[in-house]
Order: sequence, then C-alpha cells, then structure tokens
Amino acid sequence: MEYVQPVQSTPIILAENLTKVYQAGRLQVTAVRDVSLAVEPSEFVAIVGPSGSGKSTLFYLLGGLTQATHGRVIIDGVDFATLSDAERTRLRKHRIGFVFQKFNLLPTLSAMGNIEIAYAVSGRTEGGKKVPLDRVYLDHLSDLLSIQGRLKHRPAELSGGEQQRVAIARALITRPAIVLADEPTGNLDTKNSEAVLQMLLRSNRELGQTTLMITHNPEAAAIAGRILHMRDGEIVSEESGSRSGMVTPGLRSAATVV
Ligand SMILES: Nc1ncnc2c1ncn2[C@@H]1O[C@H](COP(=O)(O)OP(=O)(O)OP(=O)(O)O)[C@@H](O)[C@H]1O
Ligand SMILES: [Mg+2]
Repeated sequence: MEYVQPVQSTPIILAENLTKVYQAGRLQVTAVRDVSLAVEPSEFVAIVGPSGSGKSTLFYLLGGLTQATHGRVIIDGVDFATLSDAERTRLRKHRIGFVFQKFNLLPTLSAMGNIEIAYAVSGRTEGGKKVPLDRVYLDHLSDLLSIQGRLKHRPAELSGGEQQRVAIARALITRPAIVLADEPTGNLDTKNSEAVLQMLLRSNRELGQTTLMITHNPEAAAIAGRILHMRDGEIVSEESGSRSGMVTPGLRSAATVV
C-alpha cells in the first residue's frame, strides 16, 4: 500500500502563545493575548480589527521591535528570544521590510537618501563583499510607484501619498523575505491606496515575499489570501481573501498585471 506523504511546509513567521502586557503606571494593559499564528512563505495575510484591538502591538512583536511578555516569535526557524539585541537587529534588517502608518521617513534626507540609507543599513553582502544598491531595481520600483520625479525632495516637500510610496520603495529595495505593513493606506486617498496596495501585491507575487498587512479597510484586506480578525488582543476568526478567488473591482488591474 502506498502512502501519500503530506507536504511539510515550514512557516516563515510563527507566533506561539504571544502575550504582551503594557505597564501604564499602576495599570496593566494586555494588548495581545495568547496569540498563535503561522504564516507560510509567500502568503499575503491581512489583519483587521477595531482600534485598540492589538494590531500594532502584534506587528511590533512579529517584527522584533518589542519583546513579548509571554510566548515566542520564530522567524524562518529562528527564535527572536534566543538572539542578542545586535543579532535581532541584524535579522530584522536583513529579512524584514517595514511600512509604518506614519511613514517614518527621516526628515533631513531626500526621498532618495531615505531609500539609500535603508539599503545601506540592511548590510547586504555576497561572498563577504557589500552588494551595491541595484539602481535598475530602484528605477523599476520608482516607476511602478510613480515617484521618479520626487526622489530629490525631502519628506516635508512630499504629499502623504508620495511619502508612503517612498516608504514602500524603502521597504522593498532590500528585497526582504518578509514585508510587515501597519495601516499602509491608513492616511491615503483611494488613488494612493490603490498604488500602494498594487505595489505590495506585485512585490509579494514577483519576489515570493511573505506579506502581512494590518488594515482597517475591508477593501484593502480583501486583496490578501487570508484575513485574520482581531478583537481585544485575540485573533477571533479567519477568512479567505480575494486572492484565493474573486478580485475587488478597483484592484482588478493590480491582480492581473502580475
Ligand atoms: N506603550 C503602551 N503603553 C500602554 N498601553 C499601550 C501601549 N501601546 C498600546 N497600548 C494599549 O494596548 C492596546 C492595543 O493597542 P494597539 O496600538 O496595538 O491597537 P491597534 O489595534 O493597533 O489600534 P489602532 O487601530 O488604533 O491603531 C490599546 O488598549 C492601547 O491603549
Ligand atoms: Mg495600530
């Protein structure tokens, strides 16, 4: 008798019983409560939930930007807790591209400077040698994000939509294995939201990136393959997004170009 072996997949992001308790004076706030979650390589997962439900806290935990009170985060088989601060920073810079709701661009640098410095600190090397920034790839990203003509400007001289598009280029220039985005379209109008979502989707498909996006916008969430719902610090339900079937009308072009 023949056995069909189940395909063994290893999650690239694994969270086990994650809990985060903030101490606010004498008050304790449990922002994330016993969350376990596995994300497979190349998955596009959206996390939705009301304000205060713990989405950003989960984002910080998964990205190694804050430490869990209980539980652990394993990225590509490596447990964050077993790493020194320096090693954790290195893993983060090598493997994860972050997109923040408030862009977090450095105000004194131009858009180009912001992208270049992110690339430089990621410290990409090959055979012990630094790998120079791929200008062709930067042109490709800038073109897709329509920021070509804006790269010499500082963040204060850019609109919110432009700043977020620069922030996306900054996150993607290192070709990270994982992209974590916290409300990437939170401050954007429909047109800019679509540009940002298209880029995340395209990058996820072209580079096989694992993408985890927090959003409160159901239309944005619908582009994901899987949608997780958070409430009071817990993941309370899960559903399939349109990537596993139907495509949101406004985003049809995004889903078909790649
Ligand atoms: N540094 C902190 N100290 C104390 N409490 C905090 C801290 N950061 C967040 N919290 C609390 O933890 C809970 C979850 O916050 P979090 O920012 O993760 O929510 P969120 O789902 O991202 O909300 P939003 O949609 O408004 O961004 C909230 O009750 C918040 O007040
Ligand atoms: Mg938040």
